[in-house]
Amino acid sequence: MVHLLTALLLGWSVAAADAHRQAGATITVDLSKTYQTIDGFGTSQAFQRAVQMSKLPEAEQRHALDLLFSTTNGAGLTILRNGIGSSPDMSSDHMVSIAPKNPGGPTKDLIYAWDGSDNKQLWVSQEAVNTYGVKTIYADAWSAPGYMKTNGNDANGGSLCGVTGAKCSSGDWRQAYADYLVRYIQFYKESNVTITHLGFLNEPELTTSYASMRSSAQQAADFIKILHPTLQKANLTSVSIACCDAEGWSSQSGMLSGLKPVDDMLGVITSHSYTSSPTSPMNTKHPVWQTEAADLQGAWTSAWYSSGGAGEGYTWANNIYTALVNANASAYLYWVGVQAGNTNSHMIHISNGKVEASKRLWALGQWSRFVRPGAVRVGTTGSVSGVKTAGFRNVDGSVVVVLLNSGSAEVKVGVKVPSADKVKAWVTDNKRSVEELAATLGDGVVSVSVPGRAMNLRALRVVKKGV
Ligand SMILES: *[C@@H]1O[C@H](CO)[C@@H](O)[C@H](O)[C@H]1NC(C)=O
Ligand SMILES: *[C@@H]1O[C@H](CO)[C@@H](O)[C@H](O)[C@H]1NC(C)=O
Ligand SMILES: *[C@@H]1O[C@H](CO)[C@@H](O)[C@H](O)[C@H]1NC(C)=O
Repeated sequence: MVHLLTALLLGWSVAAADAHRQAGATITVDLSKTYQTIDGFGTSQAFQRAVQMSKLPEAEQRHALDLLFSTTNGAGLTILRNGIGSSPDMSSDHMVSIAPKNPGGPTKDLIYAWDGSDNKQLWVSQEAVNTYGVKTIYADAWSAPGYMKTNGNDANGGSLCGVTGAKCSSGDWRQAYADYLVRYIQFYKESNVTITHLGFLNEPELTTSYASMRSSAQQAADFIKILHPTLQKANLTSVSIACCDAEGWSSQSGMLSGLKPVDDMLGVITSHSYTSSPTSPMNTKHPVWQTEAADLQGAWTSAWYSSGGAGEGYTWANNIYTALVNANASAYLYWVGVQAGNTNSHMIHISNGKVEASKRLWALGQWSRFVRPGAVRVGTTGSVSGVKTAGFRNVDGSVVVVLLNSGSAEVKVGVKVPSADKVKAWVTDNKRSVEELAATLGDGVVSVSVPGRAMNLRALRVVKKGV
């Protein structure tokens, strides 16, 4: 079967005209087979990356914001991950705390010093929400302020005083940390930004020279027990608690059993992709978000495909595919959106007051522009050799099929969608970035060619009859 298909495909790239009539090349969308709900795709401007953005000339600020959030000339991202500061100052790329001074003990009132900027993250959040309609703001703390921790420092690891095994002479700071996080949400609310998701850890297995706080699953549960009722008491009942942004999928999976006692207080499970990638589902009833991934090694590249390198857009299109289809992820976030520096840790590059988008951005955009929050992943049957497929049904009833062609030759694909009556297609490859291309609909089958040579990714947006 596989051989036959391969042979047929080779034939088609020569005689393209009658390609899609071949039954073997038809993929059928099965709307009755449903998987996870998609919450969105996103990025972060934490660690003063938002400040870098704000220093651009105004027209380039707009350009950068459009590239991130616009559904017509950008990636249409739908999740913003902000860093809740813990540092006593704003030197280097520190995220300053909203209560930098030790009040003198855990039962004393925290001394808030909200600056109305939050390292310009509030500005990016307001733009995302008010200009582009982003609804999901994930606020995540890398650490508690130093005075709440065993090591007296917001950097270099240490633990939150009061969790299991973390005794401090100053006392138990868990309630104070919960109050602190709630106050942060309220400061944003006062500026008309609703934080929907709250995290209190980042890479809790890592001790490093910037904001970092160690936590086992049990220690996280010790804190969630206090954070959850604190949110309830403040009437922030719709804020989802996120945990634990572990460094990799395996380590986050390993924390799940320790979180069981507070399972009903959790909203989403969050994990990064650094020490292990999302390749299989986690054993949880909660949505699982991949909240931080990036090529941290390579020099800046804006390429789509040349050799399949770690920084290339096509690689990220595949990474997202694997997370969504194989690992049941409900969200996918690249580490940083916009920043300067010769690295791939970001998707949009600042240089000489201008911004340049990489194909990593467009890889995310090829998903995010069409697979909108609330979409449900649906089944597909049939296969085309070398083409990965994923189906989704949006809340508005439209059906999206993402096709990833890993071969170098153009492939004609037929996609059967029940009662489809309109179709549009977009492509990203070496030359194009989420660019619209023709697709035809006849006899209930959408015909598209997923171009060859470069690796290609295409989303079909099929509008069903009556919507
Ligand atoms: C928030 O929204 C209210 C009501 O629309 C408005 O009066 C107020 O000025 C807004 N505040 C900010 C900081 O945007
Ligand atoms: C929460 O809502 C209730 C009912 O609307 C109200 O009585 C209470 O004052 C609110 N509490 C806070 C902390 O806003
Ligand atoms: C996928 O995630 C959802 C929650 O988003 C969960 O209900 C479902 O059981 C998960 N499926 C698998 C196979 O783990």
